[in-house]
Amino acid sequence: MATVYLVGAGPGDPDLLTRKAARVLETAEVVLHDRLCGEGVLALIPPRAKRIDVGKHEGAQEATQKRILQLMLHYARLGRRVVRLKGGDPMVFGRGGEEWSFLQEHGVEVEVVPGVSSAVAVPELAGIPLTFRGVASGFAVVAGHCRGGCNAQWRQYAGVDTLVILMGVKHRAAIAAALMEAGRRGDEPVAFIENGSTPRQRVVRSTLAAVAAGAVQVEAPAVFVVGEVVRCCALARASAESCAA
Ligand SMILES: C[S@@+](CC[C@H](N)C(=O)[O-])C[C@H]1O[C@@H](n2cnc3c(N)ncnc32)[C@H](O)[C@@H]1O
Repeated sequence: MATVYLVGAGPGDPDLLTRKAARVLETAEVVLHDRLCGEGVLALIPPRAKRIDVGKHEGAQEATQKRILQLMLHYARLGRRVVRLKGGDPMVFGRGGEEWSFLQEHGVEVEVVPGVSSAVAVPELAGIPLTFRGVASGFAVVAGHCRGGCNAQWRQYAGVDTLVILMGVKHRAAIAAALMEAGRRGDEPVAFIENGSTPRQRVVRSTLAAVAAGAVQVEAPAVFVVGEVVRCCALARASAESCAA
């Protein structure tokens, strides 16, 4: 049985693909990729390789996930060199851990190739540092969708300096309201960065209160950042003092 490679594709820009990921892709025989893998990255898949789009669509996530597991197993059992190409880092959301343990339980060897996660790269590319001396000494990366009420979850993160919320566009107003209820200030700065690292990158800056009021228009995929570091956006020349002001 062949090894399956769980490979991080980075946030979209092919220049942010690791050298190891590019090397593994070059020799792939079967590539199963997500919707968020950039076109420039997909262009590196050799033409002889079988390319399967396993991007998930609303309402069909469970069925697609089952299909992904079965396809990986099927091609590994045929002895093919399988690459499971996942946006960002393969173990940051996106059920990479489940895919890894499923394959191991079925006796398939797995090699993980870490990728550049959108959680850190996308804010950085928009000029937002997740930590800044004197402003923010830590950050948390949180999933913005949760089944059956999110208030308890958001209370846990109310005290974290910088919150990086992935998959948070759809429920942004409820998330912002829950964070304010948990004690964060309504005038706290926030940013959404859509399509980070691609030519379609767009940055929307606002406040928690405006997001809670439904006044901020954003399209997925976007990274939602909450915290004073958003003020550091003019970063290059900002000092900790001007950033904190
Ligand atoms: C299922 S999570 C996968 C995260 C991925 N494993 C990573 O490390 O970046 C998908 C979410 O990541 C964020 N995301 C991924 N790529 C992005 C990009 N290029 N621009 C903005 N957000 C992105 C969005 O919040 C999106 O809803």
